[in-house]
Amino acid sequence: MVKICCIGAGYVGGPTMAVIALNCPSIEVVVVDISVTRISAWNSDQLPIYEPGLNEVVKQCKGRNLFFSTDIEKHVSEADIIFVSVNTPTKTRGLGAGKAADLTYWESAARMIADVSKSNKIVVEKSTVPVKTAEAIERILTHNSKGIKYQILSNPEFLAEGTAIQDLFKPDRVLIGGRETPDGLKAIQALKDVYAHWVPEDRIITTNLWSAELSKLAANAFLAQRISSVNAMSALCEATGADVSQVSHAVGKDSRIGPKFLNASVGFGGSCFQKDILNLVYICECNGLAEVANYWKQVIKVNDYQKNRFVNRVVSSMFNTVSGKKIGIMGFAFKKDTGDTRETPAIDVCKGLLGDKARLSIYDPQVTADQIQRDLTMNKFDWDHPIHLQPMSPTGVKQVSIAWDAYEASKDAHALCILTEWDEFKTLDYRRIFDNMQKPAFVFDGRNVVNVEMLRDIGFIVYSIGKPLDPWLKNMPAVA
Ligand SMILES: NC(=O)c1ccc[n+]([C@@H]2O[C@H](COP(=O)([O-])OP(=O)(O)OC[C@H]3O[C@@H](n4cnc5c(N)ncnc54)[C@H](O)[C@@H]3O)[C@@H](O)[C@H]2O)c1
Repeated sequence: MVKICCIGAGYVGGPTMAVIALNCPSIEVVVVDISVTRISAWNSDQLPIYEPGLNEVVKQCKGRNLFFSTDIEKHVSEADIIFVSVNTPTKTRGLGAGKAADLTYWESAARMIADVSKSNKIVVEKSTVPVKTAEAIERILTHNSKGIKYQILSNPEFLAEGTAIQDLFKPDRVLIGGRETPDGLKAIQALKDVYAHWVPEDRIITTNLWSAELSKLAANAFLAQRISSVNAMSALCEATGADVSQVSHAVGKDSRIGPKFLNASVGFGGSCFQKDILNLVYICECNGLAEVANYWKQVIKVNDYQKNRFVNRVVSSMFNTVSGKKIGIMGFAFKKDTGDTRETPAIDVCKGLLGDKARLSIYDPQVTADQIQRDLTMNKFDWDHPIHLQPMSPTGVKQVSIAWDAYEASKDAHALCILTEWDEFKTLDYRRIFDNMQKPAFVFDGRNVVNVEMLRDIGFIVYSIGKPLDPWLKNMPAVA
C-alpha cells in the first residue's frame, strides 16, 4: 500500500489530503502537524476550518485511510510520498523583510525528514514557495542523506478557499514540476498516478521544477492584478457616473478577457495574494528587474488604496467624523463561505474606522469573537505563523463588540459596512434594520451585494463601490 504523509494540517493540507484519501482508497494518507489543537480538532466532529463539503468528505474516509496525528516522525519515516504544506510567512526581520518568504517552517520540516527517513522518499512542495526553494531543500536533504535517495517535486495548490472541495474534485489543472532525470521522471509519474485516480490526464501538467514554482506565484499575481484593475476602474466610475458592474460586464464579454474575477470590491484578501506578490517582487529585485518588480508592486498599492478609499468615504460621508458612532460591520472573513480572516480587507477597514474613534459591532457567520479580536490586535504578517506561536491578545479592543447576527450589529448604529459578500446579506430585512438605526442611516456596501434602489426607497443613504453616487455623497468627495 502506498503511504502518503502530509506535514501541515491547515487550509491546504487538510482538504487536499481528504480528497486524495477519498479518491484513492488503496492509499493510506496521514496528515501530521505540530499543533496539538489543530490535530485534535481534525479528529473531532468540529473541524478546525470551515469549507463547504469538507465535513462530508472527511467523514467518509477518516479512520478508513485518512488519519490525523501529531506523531510526525513516525509517519514521515513510514511514508513513500511526503507532502509539505506548512506556513511560508513573509519575513518581518532581516534580509528581505516585508517581502521575502520566511522558510523557517519549511527548513525545519526538511531537516526533520532528513533525520528520521530510513527509506527513499518523494518530497512534494505543496506550500507556495519562492522559485528555487526545491533546490535548497534538495541540498538539505542530500547533505544529510545517509544513502537515502530523495526526489523533490513541486506540486503547488491552486484551490480557492470557499470552493476548495469543488476545486480539488475538478481542478482546472494539476501542476507537477520535477527534475528531468530518470529518477525525477519516475517520481513525477508516481505523483501523477495518485492524481490520475480522479483527474483526467490532460489536466495534469508536468514541467521542470522552477516553472512549477514560478507558475503558482504568477497565477496568484495575475488573479490579484485583475481585482486591482477592476477596483481602479471602480474609483473612476464613481468620479464619472459610470457603473462598474456594467463596465465589468461589457469588458468580460470579450472572450479574450472572460467574465470571471471582475467584481469590484473593498479589496482582495486571503493568505496568498499579497504574500505571493511580495515574494515575486522580491525575486524580481534580486534578479535586477526593478521595472518588473514595480509593476507587480502596484497591484498591492491599488489594493491598499481601495481599502483607504472605502474608509475615507465612510468618514467623509458621515460629516467627517465617526467618533463615538456605532458602525455595524457585516462580514469579517476575506470572502464568503470561509471562516478565514488572513489579510481580510475587514482588518484594515476596521482599524481605519477605529483610528477615527468609531465603535464597531462586528457580525460574521463563521468567524469567532476571539479570532476577530486577535486580528485587530496582531501586527502585520504575524498571522502566518502556526497558531500556538502567534501572540495572544489578552485584552480585546475596547471599542469593538461582536454581534450574534446582523440585526444586533445594526441596532442603534449610524452606518453599516458590508465587508464580506455572504449570501445572507442580500436577503436581510432592511426595513427592520432601518427602523432600528440612527438617522440618517448609511449603508456602505463594499461588495456590491445590496439592491441599492430598494434600500434608497426605504430611506438609507447608500454607497456601493463603483456605482453612481447617492446625491448625498456627491457633495462630500472622499479624498483617498
Ligand atoms: N490557503 C490557501 O488557500 C492556499 C492555497 C494555495 C497554497 N497555499 C500555500 O500553502 C501553504 C500552507 O497554507 P495553509 O493555508 O494551509 O496554512 P495554515 O497556516 O492553515 O497551515 C499550515 C500548518 O502547518 C503547520 N506546521 C508548520 N510548521 C510545521 C512543522 N515543522 N511540522 C508540522 N506542522 C507544521 C502549522 O501548525 C499549520 O497548522 C502556504 O505556503 C500557503 O501559501 C495556501
